[in-house]
Amino acid sequence: MEAFTSFTLARALHIFAIVLWIGGVAFVTTVLIPSLKQIPDIHDRLALFEKLEGKFAIQARITTVITLLTGLYMIDFMQIWGRFLQAEFWWMHLMVIVWLLFTLVLFVFEPLFLHAWFRKQALIDSKKTFKRVHMMHIILLTVSLITILGAMLGAHGFRF
Ligand code: HEM
Repeated sequence: MEAFTSFTLARALHIFAIVLWIGGVAFVTTVLIPSLKQIPDIHDRLALFEKLEGKFAIQARITTVITLLTGLYMIDFMQIWGRFLQAEFWWMHLMVIVWLLFTLVLFVFEPLFLHAWFRKQALIDSKKTFKRVHMMHIILLTVSLITILGAMLGAHGFRF
């Protein structure tokens, strides 16, 4: 495959993965959690959350890996490692930070202790726990959206 074609393909796959990943985070944040908060029975609420968020976690795990591989391929292709030393490319740093945050949650914290902690807290004080989880999602979604805006502008010539 011609080098330029594989680079273009990497860019397209990068965005393909990000749409499925951050789009899912947006759905969980703006639709799923607010709806779950309205379910009166705390056991039903928890069960539905675990079922739906658990399914999404699989999608998120696959898409974060695709994002990393395609991102690294583009960096290597363009030889732009030096951008990480320049403040005007803050959006490159932010992409890596967002990726790292989600990767830690999905592959390390969640299986190690986060799931068990959430389950326990949700049975002790469901309202407070879902409020906290919602806030965490709002923060992560906001940072992700700022990253997408910054990366879209930066990758297409806007100089900050
Ligand atoms: C380790 C993780 C990541 C790496 C190594 C990476 C790397 C890259 C690279 C090299 C580019 C091309 C920049 C250019 O053309 O000047 C890019 C573009 C982009 N990335 Fe990432 N990225 C990562 C994670 C993310 C994340 C988490 C997001 C979103 C939340 C994201 C969103 C974007 C967007 C929107 C573009 C612009 C695509 C375009 O319009 O051409 N990336 N990324």
